[in-house]
Amino acid sequence: MYMKHISAALLALATVHSAYGVPQRRATCAGGQTVANAACCAWFPVLEDIVLNMFDNECGDDAHAALRMSFHDAIGFSPSKGGGGADGSIITFSSTELNYAANNGLEDAVNTQLPFIKAHNVTPGDFIQFAAAVSLSLCPGAPRVGFMMGRPVAKAAAPGPDGLVPEPFNNVDVILARMADAGGFTATDVVALLASHSVAGADTVDPSIPGTPFDSTPSLFDTQIFIEVQLSGTLFPSSARVQGETGSAVAGEMRLLSDHLIARDSATNCAWQSFAGNQAGMQSAFAKAFNKMAIIGHSASSLIDCSDVIPAAPPLPANAGPHLPAGQTQKNIEQACALAPFPTFTAQPGPATTIPAIPQA
Ligand code: HEM
Repeated sequence: MYMKHISAALLALATVHSAYGVPQRRATCAGGQTVANAACCAWFPVLEDIVLNMFDNECGDDAHAALRMSFHDAIGFSPSKGGGGADGSIITFSSTELNYAANNGLEDAVNTQLPFIKAHNVTPGDFIQFAAAVSLSLCPGAPRVGFMMGRPVAKAAAPGPDGLVPEPFNNVDVILARMADAGGFTATDVVALLASHSVAGADTVDPSIPGTPFDSTPSLFDTQIFIEVQLSGTLFPSSARVQGETGSAVAGEMRLLSDHLIARDSATNCAWQSFAGNQAGMQSAFAKAFNKMAIIGHSASSLIDCSDVIPAAPPLPANAGPHLPAGQTQKNIEQACALAPFPTFTAQPGPATTIPAIPQA
């Protein structure tokens, strides 16, 4: 397969050294793009196909699902319990892993991704992480994350049924211990990864209201999640009271209990606060932790760095600065970090509004 990809590279330009010190010849792909490793040329047709035909060129439901999928595949690893991490087992062994409660709702994403994996003859493990990196490039404000190729096809399902994928009703200690076990993530890494909930919503936590967003701007990768979850909350998006959910401050928004607790726990509250309104800090911390997550179960030296295939996301629109939702005041912030006051934001003008559901693909 690699020979085919390499022959698609037309011209070797110069010898460079990869991040691992391996000499590589820069190559120009059939479409004219320059990459550090000719094998990466194979991903440009995949990029073009999924941006248009899987994501409809938007940071919508399918992009959100692809990002969640990258986490649920990668986190299926434990030095003591087994699992291959970011190995595509959630797709290769979908008949097993989709029965795990924490993977509820991912069957749509698996069914969406499978035809693209087959059409481009890539491994599920590579495709899942590639699709997530590309999904971020469609979300204004997201950092440009890396992409490494070369994950072999998984040989076994991640162990289950419960335990490896964090649940919204887990307490902070359980979540931090799981994340440290799976990938050596620090408390700050975990908080940074939760920036992903800025482009997210729930379909299955309360199945009566699919697409209920976690913040007021679910198609922007901004820091609103860190602001809005810190507000005092009493609203629920439906009449149901379900496990893993707690009151939110904004009508139409769902607050996960895990996000609420992580924003307030002494192990994580200052990291949480540090990202509120800090777009650049949040971007770089997220990218660092995401890149680590995407190769759980692999050594970086066994993979090829194809980060140059991943496009940059557009910046946030000029009018999308950090703010309090309309109707809120700074007094509604539940100060949790003991080291510094929560940054000050002004509220959007007008009466409090209801956040609409994310349109479902
Ligand atoms: C660490 C603790 C985490 C917990 C407890 C958690 C929990 C959840 C839950 C319950 C949902 C709603 C699922 C549904 O009902 O459809 C969700 C959605 C989502 N999560 Fe997380 N999550 C965590 C971390 C992460 C991480 C690390 C990422 C990615 C890097 C991520 C990305 C997403 C995305 C993008 C969605 C939206 C999916 C969609 O709209 O289809 N989450 N998460």
